[in-house]
Amino acid sequence: MLLSPAGVDALRTALTLARFTANGIADRLGPQATGAVARNDYRAALRATEDRDRLATLIRVFICDQTEPEAAVAAALAPLAVDEALAGGIVERHGDGLRAGVDLEPYGDEWWVLADVPASARPGRPLHAEHVLGIGGATQTLISATVRPTVDTALDLGTGSGVQALHLGTHARRVTATDVSERALRFAATTAALNGQDWELLRGDMVAPVAGRRFDLVVSNPPFVVGPGTTTHVYRDSGRVGDAIGAELAAAAPGLLTEGGTMQYLANWVHVTGEDWAERVTGWFAGTGLDAWVIQREVADPMAYVNLWLTDVGESADPQRMAAWLDWFDAHKVEAIGFGIVSLRRSGQDQPVVRVEDLRQRVEPPLGDRIGEWFARQDWLRARDTEGLLAARYRAADGLQLRQEATMGDDGWAVDRQVLAMLRGLRWSEEIDPLVLALVGGADGRLALRDQLALLAAAHDVAPDELAEAAEAAGPIVAHLVERGIVEPVTD
Ligand SMILES: C[S@@+](CC[C@H](N)C(=O)[O-])C[C@H]1O[C@@H](n2cnc3c(N)ncnc32)[C@H](O)[C@@H]1O
Repeated sequence: MLLSPAGVDALRTALTLARFTANGIADRLGPQATGAVARNDYRAALRATEDRDRLATLIRVFICDQTEPEAAVAAALAPLAVDEALAGGIVERHGDGLRAGVDLEPYGDEWWVLADVPASARPGRPLHAEHVLGIGGATQTLISATVRPTVDTALDLGTGSGVQALHLGTHARRVTATDVSERALRFAATTAALNGQDWELLRGDMVAPVAGRRFDLVVSNPPFVVGPGTTTHVYRDSGRVGDAIGAELAAAAPGLLTEGGTMQYLANWVHVTGEDWAERVTGWFAGTGLDAWVIQREVADPMAYVNLWLTDVGESADPQRMAAWLDWFDAHKVEAIGFGIVSLRRSGQDQPVVRVEDLRQRVEPPLGDRIGEWFARQDWLRARDTEGLLAARYRAADGLQLRQEATMGDDGWAVDRQVLAMLRGLRWSEEIDPLVLALVGGADGRLALRDQLALLAAAHDVAPDELAEAAEAAGPIVAHLVERGIVEPVTD
């Protein structure tokens, strides 16, 4: 840990006494200054904290990144002794005062997460090779995408600050967290202790420290950045060439999961000229026997990608690093890099379902429940043949919208195209034919699909053999609509 157990208790006491929590800070600063802080504009917050009481000083040091007089910092951290805070790197000497040595973030209204101060806050200072990542966009993407059933065992691979493990601790009886970096594990241990959680912390390369063990839920925000395979910063670089870390985690998943267990991780994958990226990613799951759902959230061109990740470590001005990275992309015909979420489930089925889909811009967080529902729908579908699908009753999802394109002709409007769109959640949209549209429109949960079809057939004078054909054809279409949650089976 960064502090002794007594030091962690003292730090928790100091933070609690001051009400250094998301709500405590918001109450103190008010909505305008709080909004400005979220945009990294600290002027209003600094005005509101000039009296330098406990909370004001903690806000100035850990939120506004100010250097404050030692006496004020000592008073704010008491009962944690300033010497222990300095020795543990919680604060550091700067000029004639003290400033934040770590990113000590109030997280939610009950937690604090310890990480390193980001590169942007210390311009010119090289980032530690074992830099411990704070809570950024990728971290939050995984938090929001994680399914959260109550489980016995959960694993966080590459725990860093420990923030994923902290969430797992709310719904797993036992949490194991690993990291290759001893430094990161010290941060994670401190985060756990500060928040009164107890995890098994193991050091080692990816799944090596848990070889032979299985878990009900596994999450990982690994060092997913793709490139030549060189490692300068462990939070970003896996040391694997290209996007191999994503494939490696997929291959490891069957051996890590208990029956019915779920694994979710963030990944990047390359889009290679002349190759279908989705086929490439689908190939990661061949032979795993796992259900897999991969959602591509973003796609970046190589220049923007390299620039982003060099800026992240404060090396945006290094033309040699940039050139070497871009040369590697050129040599491997990488025209873009995709970012997304991989969700895998050990369903114990002979024919696992693998879907790799591009859902850029469309996904509305939080995704975790949506992903859990998707896997549950796969189970429901797998248990039914066409007869079973026709015998079921369905209800159209809330918030569906029909979009229609039509051309004016001699007889009035002629409909060219009808698209059914979900306005919430995953925001699917589907071009749909009139029969299926009528079925969705009539799906109010009362009639079995077969009876709905018969009613439609009667209304349109359809012969019985045509009706049988329509029923046969409706099966896969309805299965597809169920998979996407556009119609929901009624089970009561
Ligand atoms: C992107 S950070 C994620 C940190 C944290 N879990 C989160 O979600 O913010 C990746 C973490 O993986 C760790 N890591 C890097 N290479 C690893 C490896 N080969 N085996 C295990 N952990 C590794 C890094 O030290 C870092 O803490």
